[in-house]
Amino acid sequence: MLQTAIEAAQKAGTFLRESKDKELKIERKSSSIDLVTQIDTEAEKIIVDSIRKKYPDHTILGEEGGESSTASPFRWIIDPLDGTVNFTHGLPIYCVSIGVEHNGTMIAGVVYDPNNGELYTAERGKGAYLNGERIHVSDTGKLIESVLITGFPYDIHKNPDYAIERFIDFLTQAQAIRRLGSAAIDLCYIAAGRADGFWEVFLKPWDIAAGILLVEEAGGKVTDFKGNPIDVHSPRVLATNGIIHDQMLKVLQQR
Ligand code: IPD
Ligand code: CA
Ligand code: CA
Repeated sequence: MLQTAIEAAQKAGTFLRESKDKELKIERKSSSIDLVTQIDTEAEKIIVDSIRKKYPDHTILGEEGGESSTASPFRWIIDPLDGTVNFTHGLPIYCVSIGVEHNGTMIAGVVYDPNNGELYTAERGKGAYLNGERIHVSDTGKLIESVLITGFPYDIHKNPDYAIERFIDFLTQAQAIRRLGSAAIDLCYIAAGRADGFWEVFLKPWDIAAGILLVEEAGGKVTDFKGNPIDVHSPRVLATNGIIHDQMLKVLQQR
């Protein structure tokens, strides 16, 4: 299954990169800043076709196609283009994310960043890898020496769950905060030790399915804002190198 996910992610990712100069048909989804293009839909079709060929009975949850429900214990959770706003602006920070669940437990995750040629892979219990090399979270121990990453939901104008205040709280407590625009890449960067902590509210299963497993398999920690374990449906995600986890929880719990 990991191999199928890798091949599907690479095929779709290459399609994304090669589509960057195409004329985009942009539609709005949940809000005026929540975009979808024909490229998102076509990339999802590439992935679903690859999976269906090998595993016709498995359930698929794709961002653009909804859920195809079967009795299978396996479920593929797909974001064919994570970072659509970046993509529509020609900003090369976007990826394909594919996670595979078995009876509700994530067993494999793949994220492919076609612009940097970076393939992130993980299988439960077998570690996390970037282009075949083992990766680990950072060893930064102090929040003030940490680079944090976050993102904002598409209804940020309503400031859900103190999203704006939480951003301000961290601004003065960390070394730096980055907003890349692709939650799947954000989580991969925590796994690879390029950043130390990530938090965001109201992400969707396809944004985080692969990324959560990658962080955990790289030695990091992923919880909600109270420190409890989460799954792909959780509305709040905190992913860190583990060492700064409690320091970040303390800041999040100010709200
Ligand atoms: C979005 C990105 C972004 C996050 C948004 C997501 P999309 O996914 O992951 O970083 O802040 O909440 O919806 O719409 O580009 O697939
Ligand atoms: Ca997404
Ligand atoms: Ca998407």
